Amino acid sequence: MSNLSRRQWLRTAGLASGALPLMSVAGKAASFEGFLASLNHLPPGIIAKLNSNENPYGPSEFVRKAITNAFDKACRYPFADTGAIVEKVAAKEGVSPDQVLLTVGSTEGLKITALALRLFEGEVIAPVPTFDALMFYTEAMGGYVNRVPVMDNAELSLDLDEMERRVTANTRLVFVCNPNNPTGSILPAARLRDFCETVSKRTVVFSDEAYFDYITEPGYPSMVELVKKNANVIVSRTFSKVYGMAGMRIGYLIARPDLIRRIKAVQVDQPNMLALHAANAALADQDFYRFSLQKNAEGKALLYQTLDSLKLHYVRSHANFVFFKTGKDIGGVIRDMRAQGIEVGRPFLPLSEWCRVSTGKMEELEVFKKGLLKVLG
Ligand SMILES: Cc1ncc(COP(=O)(O)O)c(C=O)c1O
Repeated sequence: MSNLSRRQWLRTAGLASGALPLMSVAGKAASFEGFLASLNHLPPGIIAKLNSNENPYGPSEFVRKAITNAFDKACRYPFADTGAIVEKVAAKEGVSPDQVLLTVGSTEGLKITALALRLFEGEVIAPVPTFDALMFYTEAMGGYVNRVPVMDNAELSLDLDEMERRVTANTRLVFVCNPNNPTGSILPAARLRDFCETVSKRTVVFSDEAYFDYITEPGYPSMVELVKKNANVIVSRTFSKVYGMAGMRIGYLIARPDLIRRIKAVQVDQPNMLALHAANAALADQDFYRFSLQKNAEGKALLYQTLDSLKLHYVRSHANFVFFKTGKDIGGVIRDMRAQGIEVGRPFLPLSEWCRVSTGKMEELEVFKKGLLKVLG
């Protein structure tokens, strides 16, 4: 990475001032979440790991068996087994197999979208804060990201009006993340649909749906419905969250066949044999899926209770984490929580007094409750 783009990157992550004592441990990771998850250099003594929105209950027993069985095939490249899993995903999403691309985590999907659509030759419009991987790659390749701050309302909603207003002939892609990371909020269904429909007539819309499974609103739409109508929309999904397989690195993109072909053309690697079979099993394991959602709901209820007891403001979350206002600089909060053995999410500037905590396990949330009381109580 050039010095310039590294500076841009640090500025985006709000770390250029070097003010945070976290730089040595989490400085690199602060670039974006996927990077954090892959490095995950946790300081010693952490007993409640609540920083990466993982599902600590996974993988399910059924998936573990599938992984073990897949070892027999691990001496082979995975290509021969990919097609069958693509078909399963396509059936689940109600699209045809040529509208699906399996990726090494959804992060690879974000990267190869930036590469294939040559986003670096123009501009990407994205909210801030959000999950920054696609924007990170765009900037690292020399492109420009036009960041639109989230709104100053109770949901910290994406400012769709402003994002739409900024679209020009130079806009290569508009990124939405719904539920958004780190805010956890979702957009009103009709507004989201309308935005994606309108904007996709002018440029590509990317809908990052990593947390879609956690949405409880009945009938809430995935933007896959627009892919089915041949819109210029790409959707990403992952096995890292509700399926509890963040370490397996498998996700997928859903898009029109011509877009999938373009993106596939720059994909050199692909999910490994164990990840493929893990994903295949995960799709069949409805019990674990329901269990994960149930545990997440219990975890969120405890988090809300903790935050309510401290009278801290938070955003109602549709994901597996909660974003809350500490009223203190996040650098100090992270440091003080770490001293209690608790790892919470990284800084999400410009919201420097907000903290993201993942749902984790109930026992971790009890530790969080005690720790937060000491740090902010
Ligand atoms: C919104 C969002 N998208 C994508 C990812 C990347 O997930 P993965 O690469 O594990 O699929 C994450 C990870 O936290 C995320 O929060």
